[in-house]
Amino acid sequence: MNVLPSSQVGRRDTFQIPANVHAETVVSVRHYTDRLFSFRITRPQSFRFRSGEFVMIGLPLAEKPLFRAYSIASPSWDEELEFFSIKVPDGPLTSNLQKIAPGDTVLLRQKATGTLVLDALTPARRLYMISTGTGIAPFASLIRDPETYDKFDQVILTQTCRETADLAYGEDLYRQATEDPLIGELTAGRLTFYSTATREDFMRRGRITKLIEDGSLFADLGVSPFDPEADRVMICGSIEMLKDVKSLVEGAGLIEGSNSGPASFVVERAFVG
Ligand code: A2P
Repeated sequence: MNVLPSSQVGRRDTFQIPANVHAETVVSVRHYTDRLFSFRITRPQSFRFRSGEFVMIGLPLAEKPLFRAYSIASPSWDEELEFFSIKVPDGPLTSNLQKIAPGDTVLLRQKATGTLVLDALTPARRLYMISTGTGIAPFASLIRDPETYDKFDQVILTQTCRETADLAYGEDLYRQATEDPLIGELTAGRLTFYSTATREDFMRRGRITKLIEDGSLFADLGVSPFDPEADRVMICGSIEMLKDVKSLVEGAGLIEGSNSGPASFVVERAFVG
């Protein structure tokens, strides 16, 4: 691995852009904690995606560029592309990516894909989006997409993190989705942000799996437990988290869907670094 000084990250003067790759410009960067940051880049006019999908991104390092899958956190109507990332000290990409600044170049492959899309779910009343850590990113896209509210009456976004500081991105996002003049009209009274912390005192403490199992999630929301008729679920987090949440929703009778066979829940692994 080659960790570069900040001044060299995102410079493309010595770099040949590969075919089928867009070279885009960093517009803004926001650091939330020493482990988490978000950034926005320009969006190529030809780049199309469905809210909830992921794309491969990389940096124009002089050697062979390294790409990693990143969920797009901005909605499909946005003129820019937003990403929410972990910082892994010796992560092959994030050790350098965390140093980007406005004006730097980020590489973007052309094709977005993924299963956390509205098309993979059959119609129902309520949509749960269950995330841990940076697994919130695809849901950041979906909660700002009007189509989500065309399809579901009620949207519940959950995020579990170790510490309360890790929840700041989700809190900002929720505030923005409820206060924005356009999206705010759709989210009013229909979008709930249910955040929980596992390693620090917080109003809601514990893994989401525990809060589902002991009924706290449903009691707090004032709704019935998962119901295959009324509820749809999207899940994004670590492999272990996906396995545990999946077994809970399957236990409630929900069936896994895909782009080619829409059903009642979908899963995708969050980017790991
Ligand atoms: P915990 O603190 O009990 O491990 P990480 O930072 O390791 O990716 O974890 C993000 C959050 O996801 C943490 O709050 C962690 O809780 C929680 N978590 C980890 N594994 C699972 C799992 N299998 N099911 C539910 N939540 C999990």
